[in-house]
Amino acid sequence: MTEPLLKVNDLVKHFPITGGVLGRVVDKVHAVDGVSFALDAGQTLGVVGESGCGKSTTGRCILRLIEPTSGEVWFEGKNVTAMGKNELRGMARDMQIIFQDPYASLNPRMTVGAIVGEALIIHKLTKTDREYHDRIVELLETVGLSANQMRRYPHEFSGGQRQRIGIARALAVSPKLVVCDEAVSALDVSIQAQVINLLEDLQAKFNLTYLFIAHDLSVVEHISDRVAVMYLGRIVEIASARDLYTTPLHPYTEALLSAMPVPDPQLKRKRIMLQGDVPSPIKPPPGCHFHTRCPMARKECGIESPTLKQGSDGHWVACHLRT
Ligand SMILES: Nc1ncnc2c1ncn2[C@@H]1O[C@H](COP(=O)(O)OP(=O)(O)OP(=O)(O)O)[C@@H](O)[C@H]1O
Ligand SMILES: [Mg+2]
Repeated sequence: MTEPLLKVNDLVKHFPITGGVLGRVVDKVHAVDGVSFALDAGQTLGVVGESGCGKSTTGRCILRLIEPTSGEVWFEGKNVTAMGKNELRGMARDMQIIFQDPYASLNPRMTVGAIVGEALIIHKLTKTDREYHDRIVELLETVGLSANQMRRYPHEFSGGQRQRIGIARALAVSPKLVVCDEAVSALDVSIQAQVINLLEDLQAKFNLTYLFIAHDLSVVEHISDRVAVMYLGRIVEIASARDLYTTPLHPYTEALLSAMPVPDPQLKRKRIMLQGDVPSPIKPPPGCHFHTRCPMARKECGIESPTLKQGSDGHWVACHLRT
């Protein structure tokens, strides 16, 4: 067995909430509440769940863009969470992140060439002006843009093209892991498919590993090898994409799937409507976080927290009723 490229062990992130004139910590947001998973090189793990369930926080903790409260992140056998500043800087090239809104993350005053080339300068990846220029052209062409677009500014591009610029910028440092945080969520469905196809081509070409974050299951279905479903800071189910979509085990996953449009109108799924809203992550419900909305909840569900257990081979679920 080879080591997974990325291993996340019991990751926790609590954001303190301060209040009063003294600014004391009065409460905390349980953004990520004990998340564990492994991701093999060249694979894609889709991460889905409703807004606020901790997907972005998980992604950012992995890259140490924010400091986890506890838990460990291992990358290529090295403990990222224990790294000092210098070591982390070296590591930064291996892990990149692409955001939902490329417009907000692309400096409007910089040309596309300068945006894509910035990291080449920071990490001293090219020696001469010629090399620098050629590498930018190569990166733009890799993502389906052209050399003559390098002198343009981000506002001159469409949403899908801007996302391609964001991807080119991430690729500049030849990363191994790319966290795609809602990378296609803001795009029209047809453009979404183009960008997802591009990401798949790039994955095959450069053996990239993706942590692919999205709100909804239909977006990650095509690109993911495995899918993790999060609810209020925890993974409630993780399985191969095929198992998760055909035989979901967690009642929350079932509800999410039942809301997904099916291509074949003959194939009718019973729509499961969840009652109420997602509870506040400041005071998540005791026991199973989902029990307040679960159509099948029993008494024990409100008392004891279910841990992830293997339901079938490689298919893990955290539910008292399903294991
Ligand atoms: N810097 C912060 N300070 C305080 N609370 C935060 C901070 N960042 C995130 N949170 C809270 O942590 C929880 C998880 O947020 P996160 O952004 O990880 O969710 P998400 O699953 O990515 O949601 P979305 O689908 O809307 O992007 C939310 O309740 C959010 O309000
Ligand atoms: Mg998010």
